[in-house]
Amino acid sequence: MSEIEHRGPAAPAPLEWEYAPAPEARDIVSLRERYGLYIGGEVVDPRSGEWFTTSSPADESPLAEVAQASGEDVDLAVGAARAAYENGWSSLRPAERAKYLFRIARILQERARELAVAESLDGGKPIKESRDVDLPLAAAHFFYHAGWADKLEYAFPNRKPRPLGVAGQIIPWNFPLLMLAWKVAPALACGNTVVLKPAETTPLTALMFADVCRQAGLPAGVVNIVTGDGSTGAELVRNDGLDKVAFTGSTDVGKAIQREVAGRGIPLTLELGGKAANIVFDDCALDQAVEGIVNGIYFNQGHVCCAGSRLLVQESIAEQLIGKLKRRLQTLRVGDPLDKNTDVGAINSRAQLEKIRDLVASGEADGAEIYQPPCVLPERGYWFAPTVFTNVAQSSRIATEEIFGPVLSVLTFRTPAEAVEKANNTPYGLSAGVWTEKGSRILWMASRLRAGVVWANTFNRFDPASPFGGYKESGFGREGGRHGLEAYLRFDE
Ligand code: NAI
Ligand code: MG
Repeated sequence: MSEIEHRGPAAPAPLEWEYAPAPEARDIVSLRERYGLYIGGEVVDPRSGEWFTTSSPADESPLAEVAQASGEDVDLAVGAARAAYENGWSSLRPAERAKYLFRIARILQERARELAVAESLDGGKPIKESRDVDLPLAAAHFFYHAGWADKLEYAFPNRKPRPLGVAGQIIPWNFPLLMLAWKVAPALACGNTVVLKPAETTPLTALMFADVCRQAGLPAGVVNIVTGDGSTGAELVRNDGLDKVAFTGSTDVGKAIQREVAGRGIPLTLELGGKAANIVFDDCALDQAVEGIVNGIYFNQGHVCCAGSRLLVQESIAEQLIGKLKRRLQTLRVGDPLDKNTDVGAINSRAQLEKIRDLVASGEADGAEIYQPPCVLPERGYWFAPTVFTNVAQSSRIATEEIFGPVLSVLTFRTPAEAVEKANNTPYGLSAGVWTEKGSRILWMASRLRAGVVWANTFNRFDPASPFGGYKESGFGREGGRHGLEAYLRFDE
């Protein structure tokens, strides 16, 4: 980058980006018309007799019918998980447990293309993300935890780690298979059995995972999948056969679950929302920071709990950085999730689209300045253009509430201390980003930011060995790493 370009105004945008369509073949996925519940190793019709349709958010076309599990169905699933726990799984030699996890990991790799296409169809995320992020990371989580299964005594020396029993796990729609892996892999590695409820807009990869378990020869009842909406989730949490509850989703539902579990003496982990600050100092590599900002908020349409949704930029470079950012936004390709060139896919559901629209309207009403690059959105389906707000007041809803969409709010600061104060001025505390050439400043910032994860000169990096989780209203407990194992163990010390 030349000095002159660095100082001058943003260069004019490229007039047009021409890309031939590059659609991923859809026929690698053969969907059934109907998916029952996966209980005790069998696919069964729900006792409720109720079904719902999951569709593609990109064109609103129906994909399959899925069972709506009732309290009775949940009860059967918990019973199956209990039986599997007591009849062998918890007392299986840890090295044998590990073999199943290794097998699952390898099958996920073998079926990666199929699962990636299903993920993009059902949830709207770009195929390049399902293919290059969700699937490799999901397999990595099983590989990683397979390695721990027979080494728990070494992870926690002299603490006699033991499994908890049956875990009830509820996951959201933003990374369906990956969140399944985050929940199921550590639970199984530690010798627990599970009942998992996927989100109602994205149940398909969890149901395909049931088939992966069958293929891996996993004993019946070790993994049970119950589909349904929030009422099924509430039934699961309420079930008194559980020894552990784990939830990822909205802060409101997390609070309701905490109330429900209170007093029952079972451990709970909550991974909730966020409003992360991505903090850019004047000495950083500017173009790299722009890429990090784009990755931070437009990755997965901004449906990311740790998204860098608040950009804090040092005042002296604000104008220049925002110019570069706007120019970069013009090159993002929004559209068909199954096209390999797509950067920003469909919004996951109509309800989520309405929430985003409502918050964006409130930002405009508050007087913030909106920028959206010119882009043609498809007529059918749920879409929202990448959006940047400047002149954002700290008190504005777009600066305080989780939008969970491709919307960035820009604020400025002058000193590191002011950056810390603004970054921490939120009820959340999941993640943060720092962009600077100075190592000492990275450490100074990281020790003051009240966030579970602090990325330096990068953003949205995940690794199964690295614990992930929040402070304050972002929840408690950690997933991944040795810390994540603790959430699925008791210690007879
Ligand atoms: P949600 O929290 O309602 O959904 C997450 C999961 O919880 C789904 O499987 C759902 O069926 C289940 N659920 C809903 N109500 C439940 C209850 N009472 N008891 C047990 N389980 C229940 O999230 P929703 O409504 O889909 O999204 C609303 C907002 O939440 C989003 O706009 C976003 O801001 C935030 N969110 C945050 C996520 C994160 O990863 N931190 C993930 C999903 C949503
Ligand atoms: Mg769907």
